[in-house]
Amino acid sequence: MNQPILNHESLVSGELFSDPRIAQAKKLLSETLDDYSRKINAVRPPNPALVSQYKSALDRLAIARGGAPYFPYLTSGLGNGPFVELGDGSIKLDFIVGIGVHGMGHSHPLMLDATIDAGLEDTVMQGNLQHNSGSLAMCERLIGLANQQGAKLDHCLLSTSGAMANENSLKIAFHNRFPASRVICLDNCFAGRSLALAQLTDRPAYRAGLPKTLDVDFIPMFHPADPEGTTQGAIAGLKKLIARHPCQYACLWLELVAGEGGYYPGTKPYFEALCKICHENNILVIFDEVQTFSRLSQPFAFQHFELDAYADIVTLGKITQVCATLYGDSLKPKGPVLSQTFTGATASIRCGLAVLDELESKKCFGPNGWNMQRHQYFQGKLESLAQKYPGKICGPYGEGMMIAFTPGNGGADEAKDMLMRLYDLGLMGFLAGSNPNRIRFLPPPAVTTNEHIDLACSIIEKAITG
Ligand SMILES: Cc1ncc(COP(=O)(O)O)c(C=O)c1O
Repeated sequence: MNQPILNHESLVSGELFSDPRIAQAKKLLSETLDDYSRKINAVRPPNPALVSQYKSALDRLAIARGGAPYFPYLTSGLGNGPFVELGDGSIKLDFIVGIGVHGMGHSHPLMLDATIDAGLEDTVMQGNLQHNSGSLAMCERLIGLANQQGAKLDHCLLSTSGAMANENSLKIAFHNRFPASRVICLDNCFAGRSLALAQLTDRPAYRAGLPKTLDVDFIPMFHPADPEGTTQGAIAGLKKLIARHPCQYACLWLELVAGEGGYYPGTKPYFEALCKICHENNILVIFDEVQTFSRLSQPFAFQHFELDAYADIVTLGKITQVCATLYGDSLKPKGPVLSQTFTGATASIRCGLAVLDELESKKCFGPNGWNMQRHQYFQGKLESLAQKYPGKICGPYGEGMMIAFTPGNGGADEAKDMLMRLYDLGLMGFLAGSNPNRIRFLPPPAVTTNEHIDLACSIIEKAITG
């Protein structure tokens, strides 16, 4: 799959990519990587001889970036599946992978292969004036995946961050619904950190000190404790807003599983009711799949929830290594969009394609695909822990390869303490939500096995009892 689209004998590049020396060099590099990577296969504490050198590197990192990173985490550059070696010699079980980015885990041979191909291409970056065949392959691949259940997303703009993909989605919505300028979001949502997206993100701290850039109104998110009440509350809230500001809403922006907000999935009836009202009122629907893409029973969460008919604009990122905004033919942008100088790195695009191949070949998707099987397995293990240690952990929550639990009473300090205990014991997760604060996991979907989940749960048990 990683061969260039224009691999024709009459092109010099075709000759280059089929030169047997490249295959030989790749084989040698891949075997060498495997010799060392395979040693990273279990959680391990730091090597005392490396601790002071590691601390000084972290101190320098804190000075260079103007603040310490959240975890004392600096990799040695080597890993194996969900295991990663840090510069202090410790090995962590990485179940957060850069908040959902490294879907093939660490040091995956297919990522090496794709990166070598990218290194042989003529430029490091691709952009609006400089598309290589990888950009075309990625756009066509994403469009094909998005439309496989009937959505009509004809076009794809690549960009280098989820925030840029979302900014482009808003531009497309405003261009096409001018002069409507308001946005509707769900309570507790997260859209990114740009000046515009800080208005969508339902966290006052993200807006503090920033000028107001957009008019955004919020409606209640779905809550499993009160499905009917929250659904009816959201419908009533939406109708009230539309009546209060007639013709002023360009779009409804939705995360189908609230990610940063605490791993709250909605339901098909809840989303369908809201999307239907929006379409009846000429309001576009944007699905933000930056965190959900590839983690549920289908590549896109809107496919998992069977909302294909409502997908006007869709954004994705993280695991695809390059981000994208997909939209229908009737919604072409009417002005410039973001991420033009750089649409993505050649290696990111080729690696993203390798990730998509691997998710498919590992049969991650389908109602009983590997994503849902592992969710059930992880869920069962966390439920057993919740029963064994009442009051210590609650849950689990989430969907597919997005799973979380609430430690104790869900207080912020308690969650942070638990997160750091897990880290010290060798398991990496991250916080999500507030009231309650949860600990979430985004295990790398292409490589996580039930044995890795067993190990994660044994570490959680140690953290509870320790
Ligand atoms: C749902 C969602 N949207 C947007 C973003 C922003 O993506 P980025 O950090 O790549 O700008 C994130 C990042 O966590 C996200 O989870």
